[in-house]
Amino acid sequence: MSRSAHPAGPRHADVLPEGHYAGPPEDLNTLDPRVWSRTVTRNDDGAAEVGGLDVRDLAAEFGTPAYILDEADFRARCRAWRAAFGQGADVFYAGKAFLSRAVVRWLTEEGLNLDVCSGTELAVALDAGMPAERIALHGNNKSTAEIERAVTAGVGRIVLDSFQEIARVAAVAAEHGVRQRVQIRVTVGVEAHTHEFIATAHEDQKFGLSLADGQAAEAVRRVLMLDSLELAGIHSHIGSQIFDMAGFEVAARRVVSLLGEIRDEHGVELPEIDLGGGLGIAYTTDDDPREPHEIAKALGEIVARECDAARLTPPRLSVEPGRAIVGPTAFTLYEVGTVKPLEGLRTYVSVDGGMSDNIRTALYDAEYSVSLVSRASDAEPMLVRVVGKHCESGDIVVKDAFLPADTAPGDLLAVPATGAYCRSMASNYNHALRPPVVAVADGRARVIVRRETEEDLLRLDVG
Ligand SMILES: Cc1ncc(COP(=O)(O)O)c(C=O)c1O
Repeated sequence: MSRSAHPAGPRHADVLPEGHYAGPPEDLNTLDPRVWSRTVTRNDDGAAEVGGLDVRDLAAEFGTPAYILDEADFRARCRAWRAAFGQGADVFYAGKAFLSRAVVRWLTEEGLNLDVCSGTELAVALDAGMPAERIALHGNNKSTAEIERAVTAGVGRIVLDSFQEIARVAAVAAEHGVRQRVQIRVTVGVEAHTHEFIATAHEDQKFGLSLADGQAAEAVRRVLMLDSLELAGIHSHIGSQIFDMAGFEVAARRVVSLLGEIRDEHGVELPEIDLGGGLGIAYTTDDDPREPHEIAKALGEIVARECDAARLTPPRLSVEPGRAIVGPTAFTLYEVGTVKPLEGLRTYVSVDGGMSDNIRTALYDAEYSVSLVSRASDAEPMLVRVVGKHCESGDIVVKDAFLPADTAPGDLLAVPATGAYCRSMASNYNHALRPPVVAVADGRARVIVRRETEEDLLRLDVG
């Protein structure tokens, strides 16, 4: 990496890891729409606004850290997915990315279905009025109580993940006199990573039943023999933060091929396939995600082609995007605490949250961007690492970024694209109080998940 590429100075170039930023962005005040939700702008004061509200006012009213969720953006993304897949397919929002009662209501209104993977996610969905038949239950180790809850609620599908679970779900359904619709989750032999897919060690993981070693075919045999189960289809989920459609293509081909084998062996054509979630989003401007209509077109064409080749009636397709819907719709608003320049290295900017509200950087080495949002600044760019306040040196929110050199205690920073797997994976490490989720739309803000209080934590600690 050439030193001259870094106006911030040669010492900064020395520590930038290969493949990261080629240098500071041209204008640190720009809030690039590729990573910010669609109603985010900078106002005449130089502060960021979202949903028509100034982030300084949001911080004053709701405190920091806080997740600020752009409701219009969330709804627009739901509509884009629905429109892209049309009436002949179903879009299940993956609740693990972020679930709350408000979100369930938006999904219900926008015509999406919901994938849950625990009894408590199911409870939230039902409580907020998602019709049970629009819910799918996932999980590699569903308890009998969770299965019972799903069966008695009347969920539209349970996605089976093991031989033991086939027996468990069948027994619960029989006990309640129900014929439960199920899909079988198969591992198709594709492991998808950020920009590539690697057909290697993917069989060695806890989810699904392997196509390659015949477990998937055996699961089909067992399910078809059970009166209390109705085998609706085959499910595949290949990974996450995927940009390349090639992995889905292989998955679709293998799933359709299994449908052909099932038809040949059992004389039944299964009516559904689900190709899972995992579609990537832009965390930084280096990421180039596909639009829902491109994804729908690619998947539709692959399935149609493969079914045609296998002389099968194309099954009803479903997908399960989580991150691609909610991820880009929220940012985390932080206040700067301390600013510590390390001579010859970089400046550590500490914020009032950290790995308790965003574990992804520590867990997956995830990349994020960050901006000063309480004001504009013409100061020189400085290379920073945005860190939290927790007692771990790995407590990093944004590993490599540029902020204006005059960034100071009391400034507000925002990290975009934190809508998925941040609040849902948040913890109480160091007894941190998990931040609120504040939904903004049309100049109004409302708390949809409130901030935890000391009282909440003390109530759990029963002495
Ligand atoms: C079965 C299944 N479906 C959907 C998803 C959602 O993935 P994403 O949020 O990356 O779209 C996941 C994520 O782990 C999953 O395991």
